[in-house]
Amino acid sequence: MGGLDAYHWLTEALDTIERAHWKRGMKQVTSRSGAVVEIGAQNVLNFASNDYLGLASDDRLVQAATRAMQDYGVGATGSRLLSGHRALHRKLEIGLARWKRTEEALVFSSGYGACLGTVVALVGDRDVIFQDQYNHSCLQQGAKLSQAKLYSYKHNNIQHLQELLQQHRSQHRRCLIATETLFSMDGDCCPLPEVLDLAQQYNSMVLVDEAHANGVFGQNGAGWVQATDCQGRPLIQAGNLSKALGSMGGYVAGSSVLIEYLRHRAPTWMYSTGLSIPDTAAAAMAVAIVQGEPQRQAQLWRNVHDLRERLNQAELPLLSSVASPIICLPVRDAATAQELEPALLQAGVFAAVVRPPTVPTSRLRLSVMSTHTPDHLGELVAILSDFRDGLA
Ligand SMILES: Cc1ncc(COP(=O)(O)O)c(C=O)c1O
Repeated sequence: MGGLDAYHWLTEALDTIERAHWKRGMKQVTSRSGAVVEIGAQNVLNFASNDYLGLASDDRLVQAATRAMQDYGVGATGSRLLSGHRALHRKLEIGLARWKRTEEALVFSSGYGACLGTVVALVGDRDVIFQDQYNHSCLQQGAKLSQAKLYSYKHNNIQHLQELLQQHRSQHRRCLIATETLFSMDGDCCPLPEVLDLAQQYNSMVLVDEAHANGVFGQNGAGWVQATDCQGRPLIQAGNLSKALGSMGGYVAGSSVLIEYLRHRAPTWMYSTGLSIPDTAAAAMAVAIVQGEPQRQAQLWRNVHDLRERLNQAELPLLSSVASPIICLPVRDAATAQELEPALLQAGVFAAVVRPPTVPTSRLRLSVMSTHTPDHLGELVAILSDFRDGLA
C-alpha cells in the first residue's frame, strides 16, 4: 500500500457528505456588513448575520480598533499569563462584569474557547453534566473533552432534566447543568429560573451560554439572565463578543473565586494567545454602546414583531411561537434546503439554510437586525412567498 492510500477515506467521506446533501460552501461578502451586503457584485438583503444591533461596521468600533492598533499593535503576542496581557483586556473585563452585574469577568480569545475551556475546567471523570440536547457545539465538545458522564435532556424540557437528575446525580461528585439561553438554531429560550431551582435542589452548578442573547434581551441588553431576573443567583455566565457586540472573542462572568479558578484551570485561556488588540478595543466600545443606546435594542424588537406579523399574514410557516431575532421556517427536506440557499441569493436574499447534522431538521434561519427597514422586511416576505412550496 502506498502512503497516499492512508488518506483515501477523505474522498469517500466527502462523497458521503455530498450524497446526503450536507455539502457546505462559503459566500464571499465584498462590502461592509450591514442590512444590505454585496455578494458576487449583487446587493442582497442580509438576513444571515448575527450582527443583531448593526454594530459590526459601526464607525465608533472601527475607530476604537484603529486607535488601539496604532498605540499597541495588532497581536497580543502571547497568553495573558505571559506576554499577552494589556490594560485594554482589563478594561473590557471590568466593563463586562459591570454590565452582567457579577463580581468579575474573564475575556477569552473566542466564545467557543470560553465555553469549552470552562466546562473542561469545572468537571472531570468523577463528575456529571446534564445538557440541553440542542446545545451549541462548544458546550457539547467541552462536555466530551471533560470526560464527565454526560446526559442530554430533551430540548428545554424541565421535567426530563429533573428525571435525569433524580436518577443519576447522586452517583457523581460535582454536577454541571449547561444550556444556551437563546438557542442559536431554534430561536427559543431556556426556562432559566426553573433550571436554577433544580440546580439548587440537586447541588449542581449551572453554565449558561448567552452568545445570542447579549444585546437582545434584558435591560441594557444584558441578556436572558437579566431578563428572567436571575442576576443575583449563583450562576456561571459565558458568552461571546462576536454577535450583537460586533467584534470577536468570548468571556465568562461570575464570582471572583470562579474567575480566579479559571485563570488557573481553563486551558483555552491559559494556553491561547490573548484576544487581539483591535478586537478587545472594539468589544469594549460595543459594551458601552449597547448600554448607552437602548433604542437599538428597541428597534430590533419592533423589527422582530413586524417580520413575524408579515410572515403570518403571508401564511408562511414558523418553527417556533417564541418571538426572538432568530426566526426559523421549516424546509421540506435536505435536498430542497441545498437548492434553496443559492436560489434565495439569486432572488436577492442572503439567509442561512441550516441542515443536518447541524440541526435535526432542515430550516431557513432568518436573523433580524435593528438596521433592517420596513421595506427590507416587506421585500423579504415577498421573495419568500415565491418559495413557499419548499417551506413546509
Ligand atoms: C451559541 C453559541 N455559542 C458559542 C459560539 C461561539 O462563539 P465564537 O464564534 O465567538 O467563537 C457560537 C457561534 O459562533 C454560538 O452560536
